[in-house]
Amino acid sequence: MSKKDSKGGNMVTGLGVLVLLLGVGSYGAYQLGHSLSGIDTQAVAVAADSGKASTASVNGSEIFAVNCAGCHGAKAEGGAGPALAITKSWTEAQFKDAVLHGKAPQGELKSMMPRFGDSGFSGEPATDAQVEALHNYIKSL
Ligand code: HEC
Repeated sequence: MSKKDSKGGNMVTGLGVLVLLLGVGSYGAYQLGHSLSGIDTQAVAVAADSGKASTASVNGSEIFAVNCAGCHGAKAEGGAGPALAITKSWTEAQFKDAVLHGKAPQGELKSMMPRFGDSGFSGEPATDAQVEALHNYIKSL
């Protein structure tokens, strides 16, 4: 499997590296004894997981804690910003417009509410999966 020229990007490259590392790991274990085999495999699995974290797994409660709780309260009960329970009945599109662009169903939100469409939640552009995870987290409160 060639590492650089595949169009699949990180995932495919990651798989290539994983296969490569597994091969090296097994070889090392063969050389050094069976006990190493388990450790190497585990380390490779952890490395593969962290590589996927930004695209595959999205944690709504974490995004909320980092980006929203300071103004809306740890449980969205309200603080400098309003309580967010009302958004439980909003559609995905309404929630997204409010959080990313400051456009709530009742109108434009004051500028104190950040436009996360500009900043993102973690330094990278916000994704639909992140917005959906946030909405689901708020609904779960
Ligand atoms: C710097 C403080 C601040 C942060 C951080 C913040 N907000 Fe807000 N937010 C506000 C304020 C203030 C309002 C009310 C604006 C208004 O009344 O026009 C608001 C309004 C909202 C509304 C509209 C609520 C309604 O009843 O219309 C939603 C939804 C919302 N915020 C979600 C979020 C989410 C989700 C995050 C985190 C990703 C977040 N906010 C982060 C201050 C903040």
